[in-house]
Amino acid sequence: MPRGKSSFICRECGHASPGWLGRCPECGSWNTIVEEITKPSAGPSRAGAVAVAAPAPIRLVDVDAGAHSRIDTTLGELNRVLGGGLVAGGVVLLGGEPGVGKSTLLLQALLGMERAGVPTLLVSGEESAPQVKLRSRRLGGEASELRLLTETQTEVVVACLENLRPAVCVVDSVQTLWSAEISSAPGSVAQIREATGQLLRVAKSKGLALLLVGHVTKDGELAGPRVLEHMVDAVLSFEGERAQPFRILRAVKNRFGSTNEVGVFQMAESGLEEVPDPSSVFMEEGELRSGSAVVPVLEGSRCLLAEVQALVAPSSLAMPQRVARGVDRNRLAMIVAVLSRRARIPLPKCDIFVNVAGGLVIEDPAADLAVALAIASAWQDGPTGKGVAGFGEISLTGKVRYVMQGEKRIQELTRRGFQKVLLPARNGEEYRASGGILSGLTLVAVTDIGEAVKNRSG
Ligand code: TYD
Ligand code: MG
Repeated sequence: MPRGKSSFICRECGHASPGWLGRCPECGSWNTIVEEITKPSAGPSRAGAVAVAAPAPIRLVDVDAGAHSRIDTTLGELNRVLGGGLVAGGVVLLGGEPGVGKSTLLLQALLGMERAGVPTLLVSGEESAPQVKLRSRRLGGEASELRLLTETQTEVVVACLENLRPAVCVVDSVQTLWSAEISSAPGSVAQIREATGQLLRVAKSKGLALLLVGHVTKDGELAGPRVLEHMVDAVLSFEGERAQPFRILRAVKNRFGSTNEVGVFQMAESGLEEVPDPSSVFMEEGELRSGSAVVPVLEGSRCLLAEVQALVAPSSLAMPQRVARGVDRNRLAMIVAVLSRRARIPLPKCDIFVNVAGGLVIEDPAADLAVALAIASAWQDGPTGKGVAGFGEISLTGKVRYVMQGEKRIQELTRRGFQKVLLPARNGEEYRASGGILSGLTLVAVTDIGEAVKNRSG
């Protein structure tokens, strides 16, 4: 076969250029251009020269939307994120840092499905058969009928799938696959794209539900071309800190359901355990101490209670430290500036550390007020004060702004037996007007950050 033409493709945006460049002229990213060999097509190359029969489109009214029957993965939290289970012919990409538990999660699901009589296949390019056996022993599935293929050549995997016709197949991981048709090394953009393309075609034509494991880079991006995310039907990301037991499964993209659901798991001795009521798992045990504040954050349709902890100490550095774990660093800088200017807390010469307990990462802007309250408490109370619950977005002018779904947040605090919460005035009014139950919870409406700091204790 003649060697294909080589072209240079940007990993980020797919822009093609005739030679290598340090920076993509299309999207401006650095070091993202890689060489790709394109195979010369066997047939006539002129567009339009290929004879095709005119297809007959179907009418929307005749489409059966119920045709997607869902396959129960036997893990409720995984089903929830997928939108009710796997879909025949659907391709799902699961990304996450090494060691977060991707292989464990999918092996557990496969063992469960196999037990439920769903024909499955595990293609392992990373672990040997004995390694998979050891893992399944931990998961209590050592005697499973689950079929295993330790193979990395894409064409062989495809042949096996066509022959075996499982209903569900896991490929761990897509980065280990290589195709003889492409000269670049396994893990390169061209190889990953080719492997995904080939697997996608089998999945669609044979009605196979396919789960691909994908590695992420240091920056948390899925390794490989961005286009990979566009090729698959759903992209899930598995997050959590290795040192912490809790893991969150999120849908970044989902053609078969909403991206609004998260699944929560706990890594235990014998695999991942589901956490169906995760509301307070991220909080520390016992009474809230000085320097901490609780915020009800929304994760999809669920409300979780997160504990923000702060430590403020005089700094000996010319540039005092600002350390943020679980909250955005720029957001923290803004809140510190607002506290200094609008609430007159002299923070500029202090080192400030903020941490969210349990390894949770908060993106909800409603956490602003809790961050401010935790810092204020750390600054003012010494070691004896008590923490408080609060939510609200903080603006640069120092205003505490209305946030979405206040009702859900208040209900969660009520359910967990909180006695007091600081909140934006409008959220409080809205809740009272709706006739919401409070059972012992006092709503303290605050309009600006100074007022919030004053009303924190007492
Ligand atoms: P793994 O699934 O191998 O992660 P990934 O495929 O994302 O790289 O998970 C590895 C971690 O999980 C490892 O540090 C050990 C831990 N673990 C448990 O704590 N309990 C278990 O039952 C299993 C199988 C793994
Ligand atoms: Mg793995």
